Amino acid sequence: MVYEERVYLIGATGNIGKPLVHKLLTNPKIALTLYTRTPSKVQEIFGSDLPQGKVTVIEGDYENQKPFQESITGHTRLFLLLTPSNESPRIAREFAEAAYSAGVQQIVVISGIVASLPWRLTMYTEITQKLEQDLLNIPKRKAIVSLRPAYFMTNIFAGADITSIKTANMFADIRTEDQTRPWISPKDIGELSANILQDPIKKHGDAVYEMIGDPKTPVEEAKSLSRVLGREIVYKKISEEQFYENMAKYMPHRVAFMFMQMATLLTQKRTPGLSVLLGRAPQTLEEWVEENKAAFL
Ligand SMILES: NC(=O)c1ccc[n+]([C@@H]2O[C@H](COP(=O)([O-])OP(=O)(O)OC[C@H]3O[C@@H](n4cnc5c(N)ncnc54)[C@H](OP(=O)(O)O)[C@@H]3O)[C@@H](O)[C@H]2O)c1
Repeated sequence: MVYEERVYLIGATGNIGKPLVHKLLTNPKIALTLYTRTPSKVQEIFGSDLPQGKVTVIEGDYENQKPFQESITGHTRLFLLLTPSNESPRIAREFAEAAYSAGVQQIVVISGIVASLPWRLTMYTEITQKLEQDLLNIPKRKAIVSLRPAYFMTNIFAGADITSIKTANMFADIRTEDQTRPWISPKDIGELSANILQDPIKKHGDAVYEMIGDPKTPVEEAKSLSRVLGREIVYKKISEEQFYENMAKYMPHRVAFMFMQMATLLTQKRTPGLSVLLGRAPQTLEEWVEENKAAFL
């Protein structure tokens, strides 16, 4: 099989990566290269019967980029997702410089809605703004598209909410009854990335796309959860102090403080035009809970 394009993906085995890879796999003109620390994970997630030659798996990580540098030539596009840390801007720049030097024409990078907040307002604002700026500053670079997603629906699984919903039919939150949270489904982020990686490169240029799919208040969230799960789930208001103290047991002060800030700072409305980019309406929180219902039982 001769492929028209080869797309390289860093971060293809996570919440965003899964729907992204599934969508790209349906395009017969594209071959994929997946960069992972654990190659066996690719078979576990995507199956062992991937079409011969369509998917290449490269073992590597952020700090040892040699496997990436040795395999990037021949690719036209790069999807770049890094788990956030103070080192992310440097690591992103190293991957991007190697990619552009090897002939890559477009990078789609996962940033965050926090990059749209005022300068350095939160710790992640500082990291994402620097990451985007450092990529834009690369001499003789090609296109760079930044996605700025808001609050992932999958975060429900990462914190205490899933346990309290399952065991006590409630979730605790510092938001007041009418304060929205800017939810986005990782499926929408993955599928928008796939759309951009298949569109003509000129169409998106150096675009920045914020992604807020379904802003909801805690009262609306409780109603959605109750409807889908068929039992009453309630929201309990807690103070900033209680929230911070719970978080600070598990993480450094600045990170705990940032999560407390973000719980109430991010109250924006749905992103206009997201359905234009996706080619469908963004997934609602209720639809996402329905799709993942088994995990709440
Ligand atoms: N959660 C939120 O609300 C939120 C909001 C805005 C933006 N974001 C951004 O979204 C991204 C997280 O996306 P996600 O939920 O899809 O992530 P995820 O499910 O945690 O997956 C992380 C991915 O990164 C790869 N990875 C992690 N460490 C690596 C390393 N040292 N070397 C190579 N690959 C590594 C993993 O690959 P292997 O395990 O296969 O190696 C995996 O594919 C981050 O950039 C975050 O800043 C998150």
